Amino acid sequence: MKNIDSISHVTGRSLYVDDIPVRTGTLYGVVFPSPTAHGRIIRLDTSGAEALDGVAAVLTASDIPGKNQIGGIVPDEPLFAEEKVVFNGQPLALVVARDEHTARKALRHIRAEIEEMEAVTDAREAHQRGMLLVPPSTFRMGEVETAWDQCEHIVEGSTESGGQEHLYIETQGSYAYMMENGHLKIRSSTQGPTHVQKAASGVLGVPMHRVEVDVTRLGGGFGGKEDQATAYACMAALAAQKLNRPVKVILHRMDDMRMTGKRHPYSADFKIGLNKELKIIAYKATFYQNGGAAADLSPAILDRSLFHSTNSYFIPNTEVTAYSCRTHLPPNTAFRGFGGPQGMFIMESAIAKAAHQLKVPARVIQQKNFLRENDRFQYGQVARNVNIGKCFRLMDKTWQMEKIAEEVARFNVKNETEKKGLAIMPVCFGISFTNRSMNQARALVHIYQDGSVGISTAAIEMGQGVNTKLLQVAAQTLSISAERVKVETTNTTRVSNTSPTAASSGADLNGKATEIACNQLINRLRKTAAGILKADWKQISLKDEWVLVEGRRSKLTWEELVKTAHLDRVCLSEQGHYATPLVHFDRETARGEPFAYHAYGTAALVARVDCIRGNYSFDKVLIVHDFGNSMNIDIDMGQVEGALAQGMGWMTMEEVSYDAKGRLLSNSLSTYKVPDIYSVPADLQCIPLPARGPKAAILRSKAVGEPPLMYGIGAYFAIQNAIMAFNPDYEPDFNAPMTAEKVLMRLYA
Ligand code: MTE
Ligand code: HPA
Ligand code: MOS
Repeated sequence: MKNIDSISHVTGRSLYVDDIPVRTGTLYGVVFPSPTAHGRIIRLDTSGAEALDGVAAVLTASDIPGKNQIGGIVPDEPLFAEEKVVFNGQPLALVVARDEHTARKALRHIRAEIEEMEAVTDAREAHQRGMLLVPPSTFRMGEVETAWDQCEHIVEGSTESGGQEHLYIETQGSYAYMMENGHLKIRSSTQGPTHVQKAASGVLGVPMHRVEVDVTRLGGGFGGKEDQATAYACMAALAAQKLNRPVKVILHRMDDMRMTGKRHPYSADFKIGLNKELKIIAYKATFYQNGGAAADLSPAILDRSLFHSTNSYFIPNTEVTAYSCRTHLPPNTAFRGFGGPQGMFIMESAIAKAAHQLKVPARVIQQKNFLRENDRFQYGQVARNVNIGKCFRLMDKTWQMEKIAEEVARFNVKNETEKKGLAIMPVCFGISFTNRSMNQARALVHIYQDGSVGISTAAIEMGQGVNTKLLQVAAQTLSISAERVKVETTNTTRVSNTSPTAASSGADLNGKATEIACNQLINRLRKTAAGILKADWKQISLKDEWVLVEGRRSKLTWEELVKTAHLDRVCLSEQGHYATPLVHFDRETARGEPFAYHAYGTAALVARVDCIRGNYSFDKVLIVHDFGNSMNIDIDMGQVEGALAQGMGWMTMEEVSYDAKGRLLSNSLSTYKVPDIYSVPADLQCIPLPARGPKAAILRSKAVGEPPLMYGIGAYFAIQNAIMAFNPDYEPDFNAPMTAEKVLMRLYA
């Protein structure tokens, strides 16, 4: 089935927050950001701005009737800075004016006197000074310290991986207006409508039932709107309530880049030990996560880095400790992979370094250490239906890795100024929120009198195609045509207490809830049909809009059945509730079974480096991905391609850079380079691993949103291998992204 949004997207008819027709009297809010990263607020004078014609108000912390607090996991983040500022770009005030131009003009009339203090932007430095957001976490299995004795080879090193700008096409934004009796409606570009509702209710000092959050779709989220849409929704809500006028707050691109957090940069130290047979016996590492100025989702992201710290390998003795460091940068946040990619980059770096020292290709070490059935992850979960080996073997059978390696070697002998490099990137990614309580969802399904169907769930459509998948689930479960089904907006009044659409689990959780609701409705309708057809309800089934009795078509259609049921006063609405069975995890002991299942896959990447200029391109990316039994292969392939490009961008060209005072330098698309059509590998192929898929996945179709991003990590090592082919003196280092400048330096180092 085609993505149901495809036509409205390409014809420009899809509605984003800024496309909502505005109500009469709408005002526009613009944020006044802190000009410094760290300091004490001496004075904030907004009177000059307030005096300006067309300015309705300038709101600051003192205008908040409830709590000046929007922190999700830890209450450490004010909506507006009070007493001190902790990052450059931190909101100090919101100017609300009759139009955006006036509001922007008014910004220049605000006087902020801030006593500047020293800013810390580096995670290791923050760690040294004891600046942590939360206490450190450690995952361990076996006995690392005694295991070194069994190792023939021990290799140590350090890594750095950079931040990443989400660059959703639709920037952060929200539109809020009062309904009657103090009821507030917020239209927000958020992945987490309940988080917006809860934070707004706290800021406004009203119960959650007064706040209704409604989301049509997002022009991309990628994790950047799991937590960080909240601030702008709360600002619009605050202004709307205060002024009793509709208020829109939409960030300009440069403000969005400057004020919002990104993927966390990580620094790390590792030590890896292998035996004679190249089995990895021990792995010890310390991660320093650059969390920024508030916790945001950092603690959960830190955990996922630990969950994925050994990627798709079985390592009997591991000990990994992770620090979430508080720095004076915008609070870093969720980004596709949620800390998993950072943890995996460190593991792959350790393998690459060991491979270099032992003079074997990394793929030999990788293959020897793949997880096998019933191996234990370092968090206690037993690995079942492990498909990593199968993916690799199918990849090898299809494209023959040794042949590709020989081609690369031959090319490198023949060519002096261009070199190629091959890297393999395996991925194993756990599916479920690692916080147990978040693994739940609800769906509200209405069958209307005419036989058409409306479904509401907690899922947010952000381009990943979840609405199409939900529609498929409803149409398939009810056995009616897809044209009869409509997916409604995501709304906290219709479906409440929802988890954000994140952790790649949107389709699983909300699809299962939809399936449950539809099955309940079917059972009810079967009883009605049994009455009409004078049969036992157990003999009744529904297929392709017909009622069947003992598998044979009767004269009763879906439409007639629904009509009769309604006249008979049968309830045609149902709510389904789904909670992922079994999953649990104890943070204290770092043991449990946090994931419903794992997604697997392998990629082979061939990079081509121009050894005069340092530029590179990708000749091939060949992937075998385990989709389970994909319910929509077009959408899923689109997720693989998009995630791959995003992962490659993170590893190769996207360089978030701040100056020593915590000011973002890469604050626009002229200074922050993202992959474009020219970055697409010349030959990009992905084949699905033939598989049945797990029961916990919706229609046995595995979650696909995040896992393929991590194939992009291979890009770093493919380029690195090409550099080594040119410059045998280059000692591999691990400092992503591998920009063209860095390549050039390493070619001639
Ligand atoms: N694909 C598009 N086009 N846009 C997005 O914002 N977000 C990704 C992924 N794919 C995203 C996307 C992230 S971070 C997640 S967690 C999943 O989609 C969320 O959706 P799902 O749970 O329905 O897969
Ligand atoms: N993934 C994504 N988002 C989350 C998670 C997770 O595991 N936990 C809390 N928010
Ligand atoms: Mo995705 S980072 O879990 O929103």
